[in-house]
Amino acid sequence: MSSTGGLLGGALDPQGPMARSAAALWWLMAALGGLVFVLVVALLVAGLRRGRAGPARVEPGGPETGSSRRWLVGGGVLLPSVVLVVVLGATVAAMRDVPVQAPDGALVVEVTGHQYWWEIRYPAEGAVVANELHLPVGRPVALRLRSADVIHSFWVPALGGKMDALPDGVNTLVLQADEAGEHTSECAEFCGVQHTNMSLLVVAEEPDAFRAWVAAQAAPAAPVNSTGAAGADVFARACSRCHAVRPATEAEPAERGPDLTHFASRRTIGAIAENEPEALRRWISDPHAMKTGVLMPAVELDPHELDAVVTYLEGLR
Ligand code: CUA
Repeated sequence: MSSTGGLLGGALDPQGPMARSAAALWWLMAALGGLVFVLVVALLVAGLRRGRAGPARVEPGGPETGSSRRWLVGGGVLLPSVVLVVVLGATVAAMRDVPVQAPDGALVVEVTGHQYWWEIRYPAEGAVVANELHLPVGRPVALRLRSADVIHSFWVPALGGKMDALPDGVNTLVLQADEAGEHTSECAEFCGVQHTNMSLLVVAEEPDAFRAWVAAQAAPAAPVNSTGAAGADVFARACSRCHAVRPATEAEPAERGPDLTHFASRRTIGAIAENEPEALRRWISDPHAMKTGVLMPAVELDPHELDAVVTYLEGLR
């Protein structure tokens, strides 16, 4: 199990075939750029030393013109041409490693960017999640990216390329994870005040674990027991305009907030706070205090109602 912290670290620690070819291209470009830099600095130092030895003794058009021209043609035309052709060839080869359409047997996942959270749908499996993307290892995953509002950008550096999620049209990004692990992802296109906190947890897991997870997420919410009953009523009154709990709320909510059917199984609240009752209490009472500019309004509930709805939500395993 590997875990990848920083985004740049993720890009240079590839965990799948698409990410690996992007990282190989990065290292090639870094090596060539480094080489050219060292060469230029060495020539600069040589030139400075030579200049210090005394004024140039040769007039324009004199015997050194041939040598100057060789330097100009070699350093100004040939060398950059060779470097650019090599980089172009490597780029085209790397692009061929990244499928633009869902390969056979790919898992299709619909990913929708919202200000400021990610909606994740597994259409064939019937699961809906927020801010958590689970993937089976060793199988290509075709992400169908779109946006519900402004332009967002999807990027899991450890697994592959970056792609925009647009309001008008679907972009497909194919990824694959080689081994189980967790990866960080942040929205990569400025989309408003909470752009920085538009995080996504990506969990690559063994196929069996993934199957179990997605089946649990697709299942309807557990029937409300006596502890949750009062909270379910509060939820229906105060929250169901924006949040679904399948199948209690049959119709799609009017305003689309995260589906909460298995809320308690999720790691975070609002993609920023650890999912535990005290944080949930604060989040419902005043989400803006935790995530300024979030589109969820503060929900006015008396303390009993708040307790009840927190109990209900934390019971949605
Ligand atoms: Cu979404 Cu930045």
